[in-house]
Amino acid sequence: MIRLYTDRLLIRDHTESDLATHHELLSDRKVMWFMQDIQTDSIEESELNLKTAIDQTECSDRKYYFFRIEDKFTNEHIGEIGYTVLDFTPVGKIVEVGYFIRDKYWGMGYTKEAFEEVIRFAFEENDVCRILCGCLKENTASEKVMQKCGMIKEAEFKECQWHDGKLKDRVAYRLLRSEWNKNRENK
Ligand SMILES: CC(C)(COP(=O)(O)OP(=O)(O)OC[C@H]1O[C@@H](n2cnc3c(N)ncnc32)[C@H](O)[C@@H]1OP(=O)(O)O)[C@@H](O)C(=O)NCCC(=O)NCCS
Repeated sequence: MIRLYTDRLLIRDHTESDLATHHELLSDRKVMWFMQDIQTDSIEESELNLKTAIDQTECSDRKYYFFRIEDKFTNEHIGEIGYTVLDFTPVGKIVEVGYFIRDKYWGMGYTKEAFEEVIRFAFEENDVCRILCGCLKENTASEKVMQKCGMIKEAEFKECQWHDGKLKDRVAYRLLRSEWNKNRENK
């Protein structure tokens, strides 16, 4: 069971008792506006999403590292962060990160705090060699989080994702373990 701590947060693997708040967040249309592919419409769908996350915690070749973000003092549910393993290579895993948090907590630095810790965990403890992250170009909050966490812009894809009735642009960011180590040495 993975449990990571920051100044304000506990970032941890899910348990079955998370269902009610997990569903509240995954079915929140405002939060999930940019992530409609994983938005849920029923408690059963949220339960399936949660079960997938929990089942993976037991897997030896784990592909999904989906974590719950909580206030470490009150255990209130703040949001979700995690990554999917895209490839297992001889020099480490290549992963893609995603995150979303309850709107009442937006703009309070929680995602930056959680993402920085997930990056540390990935590179130091989970044999990850490359992290990628992307969002629709208009999702400035998400892109800002990537920039604040030291990610490097790699590409901009024109009209590559259908969203809200039109094709939209995406931005893609990366961080290599070597780049992260270098940044830390320079701090
Ligand atoms: C994207 C999201 C996770 C950002 O979370 P957050 O906790 O509000 O972000 P943080 O408070 O850690 O902000 C990190 C930086 O981004 C900036 N930022 C946050 N929201 C912003 C916004 N709407 N516009 C511009 N900058 C913003 C912050 O000011 C902060 O910079 P600072 O350190 O200079 O102050 C949150 O808005 C969200 O859940 N959105 C819906 C889901 C989503 O879009 N997920 C990403 C899909 S790719």
